[in-house]
Amino acid sequence: MLDHAPRPTRRLFRGHVANNHRPRTLRHAHIVGWGMEVPSQVLSNHDLAAIVDTNDEWIVTRTGICERRIAEPGETTTSLAVRAAQKALDVADILPSELDLIVVATSTPEHSFPSTASLIQDLLGAGNAGAYDLSAACTGFVYALDMAASKIQTGSINTALVIGAETMSRVMDWSDRGTCILFGDGAGAVVLQGSDTPGGVLNTVLRSDGSGWDMLTLPTISSRDTYLRDGEHQMHRIYMDGKGVYRFATRVIGDSIKQAMTEIDLTPDRINLVIPHQANQRIMDFAAKSLKIPEERIYSNIERYGNTSAASIPIALAEAANSDRIRPGDILALVGFGGGLSWGATIIEWTAVPTKPSRSITWGRRKGEYAIAGLRRPVIRWWRRLMLLSPTTWIIGARRYLVHRRDQLRAQLPAVNVSVPAIVKDRDSKDRDSKDRDSKDTDTNRKDKPNE
Ligand code: UT7
Repeated sequence: MLDHAPRPTRRLFRGHVANNHRPRTLRHAHIVGWGMEVPSQVLSNHDLAAIVDTNDEWIVTRTGICERRIAEPGETTTSLAVRAAQKALDVADILPSELDLIVVATSTPEHSFPSTASLIQDLLGAGNAGAYDLSAACTGFVYALDMAASKIQTGSINTALVIGAETMSRVMDWSDRGTCILFGDGAGAVVLQGSDTPGGVLNTVLRSDGSGWDMLTLPTISSRDTYLRDGEHQMHRIYMDGKGVYRFATRVIGDSIKQAMTEIDLTPDRINLVIPHQANQRIMDFAAKSLKIPEERIYSNIERYGNTSAASIPIALAEAANSDRIRPGDILALVGFGGGLSWGATIIEWTAVPTKPSRSITWGRRKGEYAIAGLRRPVIRWWRRLMLLSPTTWIIGARRYLVHRRDQLRAQLPAVNVSVPAIVKDRDSKDRDSKDRDSKDTDTNRKDKPNE
């Protein structure tokens, strides 16, 4: 909730109004909650060797990946994201109704619209939150974090949920050994909250170079530029120029962190932990060299989850926070790179004191809000249907029915007309008979009265 009430607008001169909603000083956006969720189904390198022409040794030495998680048929980007978000809310110990904004970075949404964020907002029961998806491929989480942090820093919101979630297995070309060995599924989430205490998100650098759009691409509906494989246009399948992206990644990973640090007068040696996008262990090792910091200061979990695209940074962040790799006062560098081409780095001063989620009153209220959200959904949907039976709808419906019946009757008229001549004929003949009878009677009368 905003702790400063918006002040009334001030009229400068006729027709011009100054918007005084901005607070006098910038606030600070702190990470106060984190959570991650991965599917339980494991796909090892040995399993992959049965699908494509590859082997465990090649994958481990070239990428550092041993296994990845693959969503079960019933699992979706949304379901993974909701579980990660609930864990983040538990750590932050806040209610879904306290969220002002939900931003979801994903390249594998279930729909072009509605956004995954809207589905998550409904499932959490975050009734006061705006929600949107953000598309920046593997850099998505860094972009999303910056969007939410900026809104908190300017005072327009106070609490935001930022999620990176993917089901990459659904867009894999399982015959392409250059990509299918890399990617996995999962979701990570953080809760950001505004405070006057310095710290939290300190600085972010975001960049893009669209000239390299075709180096890493996932063509979807209405795409003009599908790519050909075995003579067939590929849609909803990832294509990657692995070597090209590798060269790009090693160039930007260190540079973007250095730039983000320099802009706030810090040097890379001040970094306690780099949390990079988990694309390839060799790229992460290169970052350590480029920043001239020990490899232990680069967090890696690629061995277990592979590349989960926009989810990889928040998953790594949640793991690092849960395993006490991060302590209050630490300087973290989050760095992402990928399709777009896009890249970005965020510098964070960690302020959260990790505590185990407790079964507090807020915990109970949170569970209550989830339960209400679960009930609200079918009730609202039925209510919308019932609303179709409003008086206006009744009148419109009745009118439509009557018009329809009239048209039906009109359509039957030819059949009625067939019988009309018979009736008319019958009636006419009766009329004629009676007239004949009348005239005969008259004639008879005339005959009876010849002198008249
Ligand atoms: O998340 C978005 C960002 N993505 C990235 O950052 C990914 C960046 N790229 C990479 O990580 C690496 O380029 C890959 C892991 C994708 C590929 O590694 P590489 O060392 O660049 O291998 P390569 O493509 O140059 O292939 C080397 C050899 C080739 O054989 P020849 O032509 O030398 O005989 C490939 O055909 O390895 C072969 N190869 C494989 N062999 C066994 C390629 N993939 C495989 C495989 N198993 N899965």
